[in-house]
Amino acid sequence: MPDIQQTLERLLRDAVAETFGEAFTDADPILRQATSPKFGDYQANLAMGLAKRLDQKPRDIAQRIAEHLPTGGALDKVEVAGPGFINLTLSADLLQAQLASVFDSDSLGVSKADPPSTVVIDYASPNLAKEMHIGHLRSTIIGDAIARVLTFQGQQVTRHNHIGDWGTQFGLLLEHLIETGWADSTDTSISDLNVLYKEAKVRDDNDLAFAERARKRVVDLQSGDPQARKIWEQLIVESIRHMNQVFCSLGVMLTDDDLKPESFYNDRLPGVIDAIEKAGLIRDCEGAKVVYVEGFFNKQGEPLPMAVKKADGGFGYPATDLAAVQYRVKDLGADRVIYVVDSRQKDHFRQFFKIAADVGWLTGGAELVHVGFGTIMGLDGKPFKTREGDTVRLADVLDEAVDRASRVIADKAPDLKAKEREEIARVVGIGAVKYFDLSNYRIKDYVFDWDRMLALEGNTSPYLQNAYVRIRSIFRKGEVDPTTLDADAIRLEHETERALALQLLQLPRVVESVADSLEPHRLCTYLYELASSFHKFYENCPVLGADDTAVRGSRLALCDLVARTLKQGLALLGIETVERM
Ligand code: ARG
Repeated sequence: MPDIQQTLERLLRDAVAETFGEAFTDADPILRQATSPKFGDYQANLAMGLAKRLDQKPRDIAQRIAEHLPTGGALDKVEVAGPGFINLTLSADLLQAQLASVFDSDSLGVSKADPPSTVVIDYASPNLAKEMHIGHLRSTIIGDAIARVLTFQGQQVTRHNHIGDWGTQFGLLLEHLIETGWADSTDTSISDLNVLYKEAKVRDDNDLAFAERARKRVVDLQSGDPQARKIWEQLIVESIRHMNQVFCSLGVMLTDDDLKPESFYNDRLPGVIDAIEKAGLIRDCEGAKVVYVEGFFNKQGEPLPMAVKKADGGFGYPATDLAAVQYRVKDLGADRVIYVVDSRQKDHFRQFFKIAADVGWLTGGAELVHVGFGTIMGLDGKPFKTREGDTVRLADVLDEAVDRASRVIADKAPDLKAKEREEIARVVGIGAVKYFDLSNYRIKDYVFDWDRMLALEGNTSPYLQNAYVRIRSIFRKGEVDPTTLDADAIRLEHETERALALQLLQLPRVVESVADSLEPHRLCTYLYELASSFHKFYENCPVLGADDTAVRGSRLALCDLVARTLKQGLALLGIETVERM
């Protein structure tokens, strides 16, 4: 069934054809949801553009189109307002038929991509041998939400966790571990590694001879030296164990099958550099091989090169990323490669995207997209740190979230049994952290504020959880099994029912806009507005208390559709729901 927008667009196109002829049907109908019910449900703003082409007054044009828009079927009312807006009020029949079809659809009206595109999403991607910290939160959950939305659309999604398991940090750590004897220990934990890495970094900064030996260890590692390899493998195993633990608490989809470490691309690096060289893009610069990408300058205003091979023969971050482009586009056939990485790396992405395009790797219109995001700030407006000024460990943040949620729930529902409260606190706490992050426009920095993210009012996860829980409790109290409800029973009589219906029908458009813009906050805003519409409806329209059984059935069906939409919407953000709280 065409959705509301498609139905209206068709009606408008027909009206334009009848009024001004086929030649004008290419005009964009510029259809918007009305900002207030007094302007109807939708507004079409095509008269202004047509006025220019036809050299007539927009209001007259709007008037003539309006005369050709039939009422009685899909439309109840058509009105021209202001300089030439066409205000459209939909018929209750149309809304009811649309709702019934969404009600009966498992995907809530979201249609499957046909044909699906092949998408690779590179996210989380921490550098190993260090504990995961607050800086890893955003990539992990924004990437996961995007992966879920695209998968829901039916796209072919491959997740890549491009972990840094190969860089210079391993040289430092290996050298320090060997020199201090830690290398012989078989149970070095991730927190030991954190400390050892810091020590190694201090030595690297202050001791030239150490720095030199550390560099050599990287070369040893990359050339397969057995001692270096053995220690390295232990570091990787421990780091991955820790990472998976954090992923599990966070509830993200990434598993070991999604690991595509930097080292995976090792064997491909020489070939990749050759290809770039053949394309004539490489210059020699003091022994290193570099590419000058047009438009990039250093602080002194000189052209800024991207080093694809270092003077010591090693390959770095850029070379690996170039190899990964080739693998993802050529071997995996990606139409779109999405990199969910801190905005501070934007120049890195712009540079290697351009190199990949110039070498001719982006065949078949393949698109590389950097999904950047801002920094998490503390209440003091500076990058979020512990009180002592240290990096905030991600595991600590998640523990604290559950702790704090537990207190909120103890206040709200003191009768819950301890075990149930613990489980609810986990869902609510983790959900609050994720939702707060995702609900912010991703490009911007945001302030990490516990009180705001756990508030029961406003655009927060607890507010949405509450709306969902309220509906579930209606069904428990009324002992109604939602699967017995009849979609055709829905009747929209009260204005808050209408508003709720219009909101419910937006999900497919919202999912599409998140998939195109890669901005999960759009889904959050939608869910928040849906929950607000639900609350208005609930204040005005008794559900279990409705005196008429038909009205009761209709309202229960509306409630159920709201609950399913909230649950599905939160699931697309990677957030679980609870049945009571
Ligand atoms: N490991 C990198 C870091 O921690 C992020 C990697 C992002 N992905 C990529 N293909 N460059 O900064």
